[in-house]
Amino acid sequence: MKHWPDTRILDLFGIDLPVIQAPMAGATTPEMVIAVSEAGGLGSLPSAQYSVEQLRAALDEIRAATKRPINVNFFTHVAPQPDPVRLMAWRARLAPYYVEAGLDPSTPAPAGARAPFDRLFCEVVEAYRPEVVSFHFGLPDPELMKRVGATGAKIISSATTVAEARWLSERGVDAVIAMGFEAGGHRGSFLTEDMATQVGTMALVPQIVDAVDVPVIAAGGIADGRGIAAAFALGAAGVQIGTSYLFTPEARIPPVHRAALERAGDDSTALTNVFTGRPARGVLNRIMREVGPLSDLAPAFPTAGGTLAPLRAKAESFGSDDFTNLWSGQAARLAQPLPSRKLTVALANDALARIKRLTNC
Ligand SMILES: Cc1cc2nc3c(=O)[nH]c(=O)nc-3n(C[C@H](O)[C@H](O)[C@H](O)COP(=O)(O)O)c2cc1C
Repeated sequence: MKHWPDTRILDLFGIDLPVIQAPMAGATTPEMVIAVSEAGGLGSLPSAQYSVEQLRAALDEIRAATKRPINVNFFTHVAPQPDPVRLMAWRARLAPYYVEAGLDPSTPAPAGARAPFDRLFCEVVEAYRPEVVSFHFGLPDPELMKRVGATGAKIISSATTVAEARWLSERGVDAVIAMGFEAGGHRGSFLTEDMATQVGTMALVPQIVDAVDVPVIAAGGIADGRGIAAAFALGAAGVQIGTSYLFTPEARIPPVHRAALERAGDDSTALTNVFTGRPARGVLNRIMREVGPLSDLAPAFPTAGGTLAPLRAKAESFGSDDFTNLWSGQAARLAQPLPSRKLTVALANDALARIKRLTNC
């Protein structure tokens, strides 16, 4: 079924539908990946919150259930040097919330849990040979890149500006994900920290298309056939969709997150660094309003999150989302609550029908 105006992503990945289910650490399950890949799209497994053993177990489950192409995704941040002074200032800022919750502010906080791609994760890639490997926050060092490439995997990564897209393309990626400002979760930025100048999907996609020779995948605020058709009109050859898949039964998110998504409108989200230390888009809640949404006090990624963990656990135990990261893009309101397999097919069919209507007139 190749009636798409641009089939470069279909041909590159060996898939039938140009719909990539976004890797979403902490929310995507193997069941979601299997369902999307079986539907003909590209299921993506995020590894940032997995240990090597957990990643192997998830890949065993997926490989046993589908022979279709899959994507495995990694973060490529550099773990920060310990900064006790900054951590103390952060703990002091959050101490009143501990007192309010009846928790001891001096209890040692767990470390923030987000693991970067390394030699051990690379060995998993070499053993399981996913058809696609995607990176967030740039690329790993050249030696690891070479090893991933040697497995035959197509390598892709997110760009939030034209400069980042060019940087990725110069280092040999097979496709660029153009991640617009609307997108849910962490910004993939790696050459800039300036969130005030981040670019929306409508402006970013055609400028990246003009700047690089590899195919471009549009991401951010795409939630139905209209968004997919628009992405193709802008020159994208595929789309990566995250927030819509959070509404599927295969997503594993806390009930407070699901509830926040269900009531989210166009202006319910903001970029915040209070949960991890890196800017990410989520539904506004109490901690974002009172401490952020962007705070100079938040320690470097991913260490900010540990101090919030006890507050989050306590609040969620009585149904409060005050301290939970409620990642969401700006188009949550457009999501259809369907199972992942049906959603993938419905998104593609809706987009194809719209593209046909637009090209016939
Ligand atoms: C809950 C959530 C978690 C995410 N986690 C990751 C991740 O682990 N790796 C990654 O590359 N992108 C991650 N993203 C970003 C997505 O890959 C994608 O760019 C984004 O969801 C697209 O925008 P949309 O949410 O408006 O569809 C995440 C997004 C969300 C909503």
